[in-house]
Amino acid sequence: MANPARRPLIAGNWKMNLGGRQGLDHRRRLADEIAAQADNQPQLVVLAPFTALPLLPEALAGTPVEYGAQDISAHDSGAFTGDISGPMLTGFGCRYVLAGHSERREHHGETDEVVHDKVAAALRHRLTPILCVGEPLTVRTAGQHLRHTLDQAERALTGPPVDDLTALVIAYEPVWAIGTGHVATPDDAQEVCGAIRGHLADRYGPAAAEQIRLLYGGSVKASSSAAILRQPDIDGALVGGASLDPGELAAIWRSAQPRT
Ligand code: 13P
Repeated sequence: MANPARRPLIAGNWKMNLGGRQGLDHRRRLADEIAAQADNQPQLVVLAPFTALPLLPEALAGTPVEYGAQDISAHDSGAFTGDISGPMLTGFGCRYVLAGHSERREHHGETDEVVHDKVAAALRHRLTPILCVGEPLTVRTAGQHLRHTLDQAERALTGPPVDDLTALVIAYEPVWAIGTGHVATPDDAQEVCGAIRGHLADRYGPAAAEQIRLLYGGSVKASSSAAILRQPDIDGALVGGASLDPGELAAIWRSAQPRT
């Protein structure tokens, strides 16, 4: 059983889907499913494409569903063609942003240093960064998954001061589990999340480590979520494909029982 002080968080990463008006129906259906969310219930966040952000305040008004973006520029303004800054995201009411998703690391060459700067930019603008870490299959097969994942976390959080780490969320997303249908076992997910929390405790002290929420992501579905979410160091899930189905996302959210 995880620390009840950490409110469970279910985040749906829509990736490059539901970017415009065609997603409005999804949001209405999700809002209907979640209508009764109370303070002590799990938090539900959707991470939408930039083009959907202007539509979200109206689509989610009066619902408890929160929202954020999938990427942030490390810079606040200037000659960075195609990038979106922290102030632009907060201007659309975003409260969350992903940093270092493996698809950005792979397809956009984002290094740990870039990821570090994005986490820092999010914190600077009072956005909650969801830092993604996780190993590819070759690293797991070689038994190096803990070292690899802790190194990613360490490099993303060092360098220039990261001012308020307790606002941080870290998502363990093993690359081999993303979009493959091969969800990690609850024990495997707990092993890594437990190691991350232990590392945070060594680095920043037990009190800070106890406050930081850790998520698991990678082929999470309603049929697998409850067992993963029961693990002591797992405080929620980062859901890709299954989040495109409002009923499935709501079922995952319901499986994240409030901690008593
Ligand atoms: P899937 O749930 O589709 O495996 O995606 C996970 C993910 O990448 C969430 O960020």
